[in-house]
Amino acid sequence: MNFCKLSLITFFLALATSTAFSQTKISNLLCENLANPVGIDKSHPRLSWQIVSDQRSVLQTAYEIRVGTDLNSVTSGTDLVWSPGRVLSEESVHIIYSGEKLESGKKYFWQVRIWDNKGGVTNWSEPASWQMGLLDFTGFTAAWISPGFKEDTTLRPCPVFRKKFQIAKKVSSATAYITAHGLYEAWINGKRVGDAYFTPGWTSYNKRLQYQVYDVSALLNTGDNAIGVILGNGWYRGYVGYAVTKNFYGDDVALLLQLNIVYSDGTTESVISDGTWTSSTEAILSSEFFHGETYDARKEKPGWKLPSFNDSDWTVVDIRDFPRDILTATYAEPVRKHETFKPVKIFKTPKGEQVIDFGQNLVGWVQVKATGKAGDSIILNHAEVLDKNGNFYTENLRQARARDIFILKGGAAETFEPRFTFHGFRYVKVSGYPGVLNPANFTAVALYSDMPSTGYFNCSNRLINQLQHNIQWGQKGNFVDIPTDCPQRDERLGWTGDAQAFSRTAAFNMGVNNFFSKWLKDLSADQGINGAVPFVIPDVLPRYSNQTIGAAGWSDAAVIIPWNLYLHYGDRQLLNEQYPSMKSWINYLQGVSKNDLWNTGFQFGDWLSYRAQENDPFDYVSAVTDKHLVAQCFYANSTQLLIHAAEVLGYTGDVEKYTALLDKIKQAFLKEYVTPNGRLVSDTQTAYVLALAFDMLPEKLRPQAVDRLIENIRKYKYHLTTGFLGTPHLCHVLSRFGHADVAFELLLQETYPSWLYPVKMGATTIWERWDGIRPDSTFQDAGMNSFNHYAYGAIGDWLYRVMAGIDTDESNPGYKQSIIKPHYSLKFSAASASLQTYYGTVSSSWKIENKKLTLDIEIPANTTAMVHIPAKDLRSVTEGGKALFTVPDLQTSGSENGYVIVKAGSGKYHFLVEL
Ligand code: BGC
Repeated sequence: MNFCKLSLITFFLALATSTAFSQTKISNLLCENLANPVGIDKSHPRLSWQIVSDQRSVLQTAYEIRVGTDLNSVTSGTDLVWSPGRVLSEESVHIIYSGEKLESGKKYFWQVRIWDNKGGVTNWSEPASWQMGLLDFTGFTAAWISPGFKEDTTLRPCPVFRKKFQIAKKVSSATAYITAHGLYEAWINGKRVGDAYFTPGWTSYNKRLQYQVYDVSALLNTGDNAIGVILGNGWYRGYVGYAVTKNFYGDDVALLLQLNIVYSDGTTESVISDGTWTSSTEAILSSEFFHGETYDARKEKPGWKLPSFNDSDWTVVDIRDFPRDILTATYAEPVRKHETFKPVKIFKTPKGEQVIDFGQNLVGWVQVKATGKAGDSIILNHAEVLDKNGNFYTENLRQARARDIFILKGGAAETFEPRFTFHGFRYVKVSGYPGVLNPANFTAVALYSDMPSTGYFNCSNRLINQLQHNIQWGQKGNFVDIPTDCPQRDERLGWTGDAQAFSRTAAFNMGVNNFFSKWLKDLSADQGINGAVPFVIPDVLPRYSNQTIGAAGWSDAAVIIPWNLYLHYGDRQLLNEQYPSMKSWINYLQGVSKNDLWNTGFQFGDWLSYRAQENDPFDYVSAVTDKHLVAQCFYANSTQLLIHAAEVLGYTGDVEKYTALLDKIKQAFLKEYVTPNGRLVSDTQTAYVLALAFDMLPEKLRPQAVDRLIENIRKYKYHLTTGFLGTPHLCHVLSRFGHADVAFELLLQETYPSWLYPVKMGATTIWERWDGIRPDSTFQDAGMNSFNHYAYGAIGDWLYRVMAGIDTDESNPGYKQSIIKPHYSLKFSAASASLQTYYGTVSSSWKIENKKLTLDIEIPANTTAMVHIPAKDLRSVTEGGKALFTVPDLQTSGSENGYVIVKAGSGKYHFLVEL
């Protein structure tokens, strides 16, 4: 046999073996839900992986993980710090690392392979890694430093810091740990450290301060090196809460930085923030989130981030004694730059102002390119909408100036963008621009937390697709490190009510597990000792009493969001961590209730529900629901969710205790708010919706309540009248009680109040109010009229879960078992959704053509699904052209309310139904 023949045989043999294995592969290795994270401070981080297979009904039967500190030794299986061997388990998400003690700063590599139920074993996955942050402060010697000069206390120009140092040996790795009071950006030798904005992020700074960890090995030089850092006021000492509050957490900006270098000869060295650093100011004259940034290019100090810069006139920094024990690693995805937009129109308003329309209400800033003389000032004002006459409208920003000023140094073309501010805008008014406004010189940049995009929804109705677009942009604009109510006016706060209402929709659109986990830690941190949960988190509202007080539907975020995250991501650890906070909220409610009724104290109620106006087309009073009726429903719902959590976590004593309480809460509700025949004291949509959604009524009274709800909706000619608390549950209640047709009517309503009314008015985000812009183009009250407020976008959850029909089985959360149950309407010819879960893609698409319905679904490997196919009986459905009972991957399980139910293994399925 000659060589050529031999290698051909080897090649085919290799091919044969690889195809035998290629059907099932491992991908998407995550540590703490992140790909190759740097800066983990948990002693037992959690590992997850995805199984990809072109076969159906694939389940993992066992796995093997190997972890080590050296890539080569991991791939060769030697010198491991964790090698538990073959573990018989179906679990592939959130596997807790249980190997040798992990060390601060160390990088760990890992691989996994699995055995499946088809008798196969996969190849080892590609290696992935995580790098530890600080498990304790041993060896962390950096000192807090502040500017060494007296700051101008009115404008507060951004201070800059620098440090020059030498490297004599070959570097094997270098890691920077950075945090600040205020915001920071850092450079090493002029190259930016990382690509995040608004770091260290917003937390309850006096209790928890995040640091970030960066692998900066590639930024160092042999010989001279320099670190440069700039600080902004940010949330720490800038205006927060309303334009009147500044210095909420303190008035000193400060930096804490340590650079740990490991040389290739094994020796180590640290460069730390200390008294050898110098400080000065540079071109940012002032910077505030609400008011914008002023940048004077004439004040630039060229080369200040480089080693060669002469800083002899800079001031030595002050050493500060700020706490370090509140430092915590960062798991939430940082804010990064995302989409960019070019002007769709540049025009002069009737008032004669030059305005650029970027076509999308977004959150971020505008980059400008200009050529002019030294001292020319370009002023950019930001606005969400134009008024009735087509003029630039900023009244709804209240006291937020939302203005960036760029002052040119003159000469060659200059490019500007701010650094420590953001604006909510679609329109920009430009003044002082040297020359004609050319679209090529203006780019709007969207900035938001870099959460993975996980959801897709599309249907045959263009307006609903625009609604989905608006929901997603509402999320992008308001998920800038914390979930805010709005991104544009002098508010931008983590309102708990808005966040809970939108949390489930948010979890479809994007991966919000780490984003919300971070915010929930601040919620626990800011929760009163009495258990009350503040209205906004981080809590920066002025205090009117020394006791924290809670409100229904707002403070309930403490319970609702952890539970929603548990359902969506199967994150039991998070549920366990939040459990004490959940429980103390319920205990607070028990304390303020009398005879099991929560009927005292301040309440927001069904915030911004429909209120009848003069010349109202309907002959009805406003839809205001008794605030304490609403509160009682939320009290019951949160208690119910706490019971569910206690069941999951095995706290049986609590299950018993709170089940008894729940019974009393519901009894008290019936006595106080329901007539013996089932009429509620508030005859509003929200009252019936909440009573039904939270099972406040005994079974026998429910049908009448449903009838009353439908009657109410008809009275309003298929318009909704619900506010922040009723809206998220409205369509769910209708579809749950067999009236999806009414939900579709509401969904498709185009006149006010409805979801599509703003869409018809040209909205590109979700509005705060149903009638932010009235049909005659006048505005709602400027004091509260945001055009980017996600709360009403909570309908997105219904689009995914009910219309497209993707849900998780509550007893197998995180989509370990999906429930696919689409609801079609003949008003649509198609709807399609997909969701990236930790296991892989779940999708559901239906289409109606020629009296036939097709349903295409995808279920990821290592999961199963209960599929509800809208069909009268088994015989009217086929899968892949075959009768259902002949398909081996489907187990039929009867039919119910117009659905044929089958249990499906993983894979893709094509169902055809004769309608
Ligand atoms: C915010 C809301 C918030 C509300 C509380 C408003 O100012 O914008 O979204 O939930 O106050 O009532």
